[in-house]
Amino acid sequence: MKPVFILWGSQTGNAQNLAHTIGEALAGELSVEVHDMGSLDPEEIRGMERLLIVTSTYGDGEPPDNASEWMSFLKFGEELNLSHLQFAVIALGDPYYPHFCQAGKDFDEFLRQKGARALLPRLDCDRYYEEQYPEWVRELKSLLQTSL
Ligand SMILES: Cc1cc2nc3c(=O)[nH]c(=O)nc-3n(C[C@H](O)[C@H](O)[C@H](O)COP(=O)(O)O)c2cc1C
Repeated sequence: MKPVFILWGSQTGNAQNLAHTIGEALAGELSVEVHDMGSLDPEEIRGMERLLIVTSTYGDGEPPDNASEWMSFLKFGEELNLSHLQFAVIALGDPYYPHFCQAGKDFDEFLRQKGARALLPRLDCDRYYEEQYPEWVRELKSLLQTSL
């Protein structure tokens, strides 16, 4: 089976660090690859089977700079068919901003629009994400192992 791809969109390192921490938590029985979204051609998604996106939100609900190309690709790729893909999204943000975790919400929506299937509901985290992600990741790991 192909690896589980973990792609991160991050401006100041929180989502980047979390992506690597989750990568370590999932590794073992599962083969895992962690990538900077800015260093991976979005076309690669066509060959993926299982994808986790870890992203923060910036500006007025925008993705971090390194995630903007992936966001546009998923939003505007009209012929894109991702029915082969299972995915999950974990979003980091701050409810102080009006568009809380918007980049994660948008990735979730555009992946669904292209036919990808969510493994579990998206997790939206605030500044206490260190306490919020472990249970969700345990559930994700168990779902991924079941689908082996
Ligand atoms: C200038 C600025 C704009 C931000 N805009 C948003 C936003 O629109 N929505 C949101 O939920 N969080 C927003 N945040 C909060 C970040 O997404 C949050 O701090 C996150 O943990 C940063 O993760 P990163 O280090 O991976 O980029 C903003 C933070 C800054 C500094």
